[in-house]
Amino acid sequence: MTNNKQIAIDGPASAGKSTVAKILAKKMNYIYCDTGAMYRALTLAALRQNADISSEIELTKILADIEISFKQMADGQHVFLNGEDVTQEIRLPEVTNSVSEVSSFKKVRAELVSRQRKFSDSDSIVMDGRDIGTVVLPEADLKIFLVASVEERAQRRYDENTKNGINTPFDVLKKEIEDRDTYDSTRKESPLVQAEDAILVDTTGLNIDQVVQKIEDLMN
Ligand code: CDP
Ligand code: CDP
Repeated sequence: MTNNKQIAIDGPASAGKSTVAKILAKKMNYIYCDTGAMYRALTLAALRQNADISSEIELTKILADIEISFKQMADGQHVFLNGEDVTQEIRLPEVTNSVSEVSSFKKVRAELVSRQRKFSDSDSIVMDGRDIGTVVLPEADLKIFLVASVEERAQRRYDENTKNGINTPFDVLKKEIEDRDTYDSTRKESPLVQAEDAILVDTTGLNIDQVVQKIEDLMN
C-alpha cells in the first residue's frame, strides 16, 4: 500500500488536458505524465526510420529499442527520445497525422501502459491521455473527463498555432481534431470513453484558471 495520489485526466483533442494537468501537478507538487507525448515519441521514431506504421510487429520492435523520458526544465517539462530533446518535434503535423494509427495497436499500448504505470509507482501523479481512468490508473483518486465544443477546441489550437507562427486554416484544424477524436473513440483497443466513475467537466467558455479551480474544488 502506498499513500501516493493519482489524478487521471482524459478527454478529446485540445480540451485543455495537458495545460490543466501541468498546472495541477505544479500546485500539488505531484509529477506529471503526458501519455500522449509517449505515443507521439514512438510515432516520431517510426517515421524517422521510414517504418510501416500499419505494422504492429515493426512498431513493437522500434518501441523495444527506445527510451522515452521526461525532464523538468526552466520553461516546463521536456520530452526525450533516447536522450534527445524532441519536445517540439513531436508536435509536428506529420506526427499528429500518424499518431492515432500508431496508438491503435494492442502490443504498443500494453508496453506504453506498463511504462506509464511505473511512473506512478514512486510518486503522486497527474496523468493525462485517453485511457488513464479506464485502463492505466483504474484506481485513481480523482478521474476527470475534460470536454469542450469542437468549435472551441479548434479555436484554442488555432490561437496557439498563431502565437507560434503556424498558419493552418481553422477548418483544417477542426477537421483534424474531429477525425482524430472519431478514430480514438472507435478503435478496438482502449478507445477514448469516459470511465464510469469519472466526472465530466465541460470547459466550453471557461478559461484555464476557471477549469483548474473547478478541478481543485472536486479534489476537496
Ligand atoms: O494534445 P493532443 O490532444 O493533440 O493529443 P495527445 O494527448 O498528444 O495524444 C496524441 C494521440 O495519442 C491521441 O490522438 C491518441 O491517438 C493517442 N493517445 C492514446 O491513444 N492514448 C493516450 N493515453 C494518449 C494519447
Ligand atoms: O492536452 P490537450 O490536447 O487536451 O489540450 P492543451 O494542449 O492543454 O490545450 C490546447 C490549447 O487550448 C492550449 O493552447 C491551451 O492554452 C488552450 N486552452 C484554453 O485556451 N482554455 C482552456 N480552458 C484550456 C486550454
